[in-house]
Amino acid sequence: MNANFLIRPAVPDDAVGMLELTRSVADESYNGILHSSGDTLRTVEEQRKVIEQRMGSGNCMILLAEANGQIIGIVSCVGGVLTSTERTVGLGIMVKKEWRGQGIGTAMMQHILAWARNTPIVKRVDLEVLTNNPRAAHIYEKLGFQTEGIKRQIYFKDGEFVDAQVMAIVFER
Ligand SMILES: CC(C)(COP(=O)(O)OP(=O)(O)OC[C@H]1O[C@@H](n2cnc3c(N)ncnc32)[C@H](O)[C@@H]1OP(=O)(O)O)[C@@H](O)C(=O)NCCC(=O)NCCS
Repeated sequence: MNANFLIRPAVPDDAVGMLELTRSVADESYNGILHSSGDTLRTVEEQRKVIEQRMGSGNCMILLAEANGQIIGIVSCVGGVLTSTERTVGLGIMVKKEWRGQGIGTAMMQHILAWARNTPIVKRVDLEVLTNNPRAAHIYEKLGFQTEGIKRQIYFKDGEFVDAQVMAIVFER
C-alpha cells in the first residue's frame, strides 16, 4: 500500500464531500453500485440528517477515508429499525476511482468489520454484490464473507439485467 490516507467516522459537515464522491461514482458506467448517473441524490440537508441519525444510532456506522482534506472513500453499515431487523446491518462501500487498487477499500472494510464485531447488537453483516463486480466480491471473500445465493437478473444496469450475489458474515459470539 502506498496511499497516504486516514479513516474516521463521518460527521454532519461531511455531507457535501460524501455527496460529491457518491455523485462521481454514480457517473461512472459499470460502477458496481445501484446509483446511476441521473438518479436523484439526496440534498445536502437530507444528507446531513442521514449522517446525524445514523451516527446517533447504536446499529449504524459510517466511516470515511480522507486524503489531503478530501473524502476518497465511504463505507457504511445500516441496521434495521424493527425489533426483528435491528441485528442485521447492510454494508455499502465505494472508493474514488483514482484511489482504487491501493488497499483503501480493504482497510475501510477491516475497520468497519471491527466495529461490527465489537458491537453486541450486530449479529449479521449483509450485502449484495453484482456478479460483474469481481473486485468487490474478492475483498468480501478475503475478509470472511460467505456467499449464500444468487438473485437472478434482479437489477437493470448499463443496459442489461445483472445477477447479484448475496453475501454475509454471521458472528458467533
Ligand atoms: C470495490 C472497491 C470499494 C474496492 O476498493 P479498492 O480500494 O480498490 O480495494 P483494494 O485496493 O483494497 O483491493 C482490491 C482487491 O481486488 C483485487 N482485484 C482487482 N481487480 C480484480 C478483479 N478483476 N477480480 C478479482 N480481484 C480483483 C486486487 O488484487 C485486490 O485484492 P488483494 O488485496 O487481495 O490483492 C472499489 O473498487 C470501488 O469503489 N468500486 C466501485 C464501487 C463498488 O463496486 N462498490 C462495491 C459495491 S458491492
